[in-house]
Amino acid sequence: MGVYVLGISGASGVLYGVRALEVLAQAGHTIHLIVSDGARHVARHEMALDLDGRVEQVAGDVVLHAESDTAGWPASGSFRHDGMLIVPASLKTTAAIAHGYADSLLTRSAIVCLKESRRLVIVPRETPLDLITLRNWATLKEAGARLVPAMPGFYHRPSTIEDLVDHVVGKALDQLDVAHDLFTRWGPELRPKKSAASR
Ligand SMILES: Cc1cc2nc3c(=O)[nH]c(=O)nc-3n(C[C@H](O)[C@H](O)[C@H](O)COP(=O)(O)O)c2cc1C
Repeated sequence: MGVYVLGISGASGVLYGVRALEVLAQAGHTIHLIVSDGARHVARHEMALDLDGRVEQVAGDVVLHAESDTAGWPASGSFRHDGMLIVPASLKTTAAIAHGYADSLLTRSAIVCLKESRRLVIVPRETPLDLITLRNWATLKEAGARLVPAMPGFYHRPSTIEDLVDHVVGKALDQLDVAHDLFTRWGPELRPKKSAASR
C-alpha cells in the first residue's frame, strides 16, 4: 500500500477532494491530509458541508495535518511518500507553489515534492483563465508537476454528478499510478461497434 499526501484547497469542487480521500482510504493507502481554510469555507458555501466532520467519517489510515503547521511531516524532504495530490487546487494555491511561496503546510509540501522530484499532481479549477494563471501553470509543468484540470470527459457516458466527479478524480489518480475503477476506460466496452467494424 502507498503513502500519499492529499491537499484540499479552496477552489469550487471540494467534493473532488473528498472523493479522492475516500477512494485512497478505501484502497488501504495511508493519507496525510491537509485542508486549507479556503476549502472549509467553500465546502460550507457550496455543499453546506462541515468538511472536518466529513473527513472524520472516512474510515482508514488518515492523518489530518493543520494547514498552519509548517513543521508537519510532509514539510520535510526526509519524509518519504509516494506522491502528493492537490484536488481541487485554487489559483491562489497554484500561484504560491509556482513561485516557491511556502506559506502553509500545503504549499510547503508541494514545493518539497518538486525539489525532491516526487510526483505532484495538481487539479486546478477555474474558468475562464487569465494570462497570469496560464503562466503559473506553465511554470509548474516546467518544474515537474502534473496538471489535471478539473474538466470531466463525457466519453464514459456519465449519468450522475458522481460519475463526472469520479472521472476527474480517476484521471488525477492515474497520474499517481493509483489503481482504481472510477470510470470505464476507452476500449472494447465503450468503442462504438460501427467504428470497430469499419477498420
Ligand atoms: C464559493 C467559492 C468558490 C470558489 N471557487 C474558486 C475556484 O473555483 N477557483 C479558485 O481558484 N478560487 C475559488 N475561490 C476563491 C478561493 O477560495 C480563495 O482565493 C482562497 O483564498 C483560496 O485559498 P486556499 O488556496 O488557501 O484554499 C472560491 C471561493 C468561494 C467562497
